[in-house]
Parts: sequence; C-alpha cells; structure tokens
Amino acid sequence: MQKYGIPTANFRSFKYHQLQAAYEFLEKLEPPYVIKASGLAAGKGVSIVNDLDLAKSEVKSMFEGKFGNAGSTIVIEEFLNGIELSVFILTDGQKYKILPVSKDYKRIGEGDTGPNTGGMGAISPMPEVTDEFLKKVEEKIIKPTLVGLRSEGLFYRGFLYFGLMKVGDEPYVVEYNVRLGDPETQTILPRIESDFVELLNSLYEGSLDDFDLKVTKQAAATVVLASGGYPGKYQKGKEISGLEEVKDSIVFHAGTKLVKGKVLTNGGRVLAVTSLGDTLKQALEKNYRAIEKINFENKYFR
Ligand code: GLY
Repeated sequence: MQKYGIPTANFRSFKYHQLQAAYEFLEKLEPPYVIKASGLAAGKGVSIVNDLDLAKSEVKSMFEGKFGNAGSTIVIEEFLNGIELSVFILTDGQKYKILPVSKDYKRIGEGDTGPNTGGMGAISPMPEVTDEFLKKVEEKIIKPTLVGLRSEGLFYRGFLYFGLMKVGDEPYVVEYNVRLGDPETQTILPRIESDFVELLNSLYEGSLDDFDLKVTKQAAATVVLASGGYPGKYQKGKEISGLEEVKDSIVFHAGTKLVKGKVLTNGGRVLAVTSLGDTLKQALEKNYRAIEKINFENKYFR
C-alpha cells in the first residue's frame, strides 16, 4: 500500500526479536493502539487497547502464541477513528465489478462492545456510503490496488475484499482479503438480482465489462446466531429446532451438522439469518421475528 500510494494507517511490522522496537513504536503512537497478528486468525487476531502497558503485554502474548503461529509477525497500527465498511469487487485483474457495499459488526456485545468475532451481523447498503464516496474508493483504492497487483506480477482473478475505514469523507484500507466476507456475503448475494453464475461466467469468458449487474434497491440485514460463550469457549452438539418455520427470511448454515436427521450446532457462529426489506429497519424486524422461531441451548445473538 505504501509503495502504490494507497491510503492506509501508519503501521510497522515486528518479529519477536524486535520486541523492544515494537515497544518503542507503541510509545510514539497515541492511544488506542491497534495490534494485529499478521497471519490467519479466523478474523479474531486484532486487539484494540487503550493503555500503553496493556498494549505492550498484548504484543508479548501474541508473540508467545495467543493466536498460534499467526502471531509470529505482528503489526502495530495507528488507530483510525471512523466507520468500518467492506467493499468487494469481482475482477479479472484488469476489469472489475463493484458488488453491493456492506458493513459487518464484528464485536460480540450489544451496542458494538466486547471482543472481536468473525462478524455478528451485517447490512447492505450502508446509509453513509454515497456515490461520491464510492468514487473515491474506486480512484484511490481499487484502481491503484489492481495496478499494484499487476506491477508485482500477481495475476489475480476472483473476489477482492477491501476492509475500509471511512474517516470523515476519506477511505483508508484496513485489510485486504482474497475472498468474500462472512457475514457480509449473506447481505450481498440476496441483493444481486442478476444471475450469479452468469456473473462468474462473464469473468471466465473475459466479458465482465459487458455484464449488467442488477442490484435490488431493497435493504438486506443479517443477524448471526452464535453458541453462548463464543468467541471464547462454547459447546457444540445442541439440537436446533424451528428452522422449517422460517418462511420470509433466508437461513444460512455455518457451524451446523446433520446427524441422524437432526440439525446440531457445530461451531461458534452457527447460523446467519438474512431478510430483505424496503428499509433496513424492516429487514431487521423480519430477522428478529425469524430468530424467535429458531432455538438451541445457549443461543446468542445481538
Ligand atoms: N466479516 C469479516 C470477514 O469476513 O473477514
């Protein structure tokens, strides 16, 4: 990002032998401190800490295996104060289609509090994202990213996920993923009216530019049903009832398994319930009506 002039937070990466340098970098930053395990950590490898001493001990515990090998390199970042959002494109490396913009809600607790999870819910579209802002994302982030990929000899075709922060009216990249998002996808796909397979096919055939991507004006909201205790310890194997009673919403399965005709919980995030509505509020209300029908021991949602 630095090489290609793509806006992102001031940051540095450190290995364990640079522990002292990591502490010194923290001392130069203003709180809160953003500390990330550089490897894969199931969406949970980020800590935001307000206190310098706590930040230092978090750095140390990541190096010492809090997120396994993901923490063998850590990234310390300046905190960006803004609104988080997710922008996805489908690209053949040159051309691209921007999919409906979404926002996920990562923290476990009501009112966006507590530890981070992979995502407890999502909405699409985002009321704060105007056409003008999206144009900035395209010019300052999407296009230079594709130029960067090509210049580095990376011939990438597929979905690109831009995890962004909207600070005032300016976009900054927080993370990239080479996949769609969970649970953002559960709000994006139901809003795409065009045939999704045809969209993928147009990428394969090199005619992405000609594809007319139709998106409904309706809003989509997703609420995740998790196992009580997640993102910490939780139990599995609880029977899920009421799935067949949900008629007006879509229930996506994540941490479930089918055993002798019964659907059982089998993960932290168990199900994601999505509804469409003329307004976001309507979509959410439909979700909560559907969620009342679905039950399992220690069901948790917000
Ligand atoms: N919802 C966050 C992610 O998919 O990484």
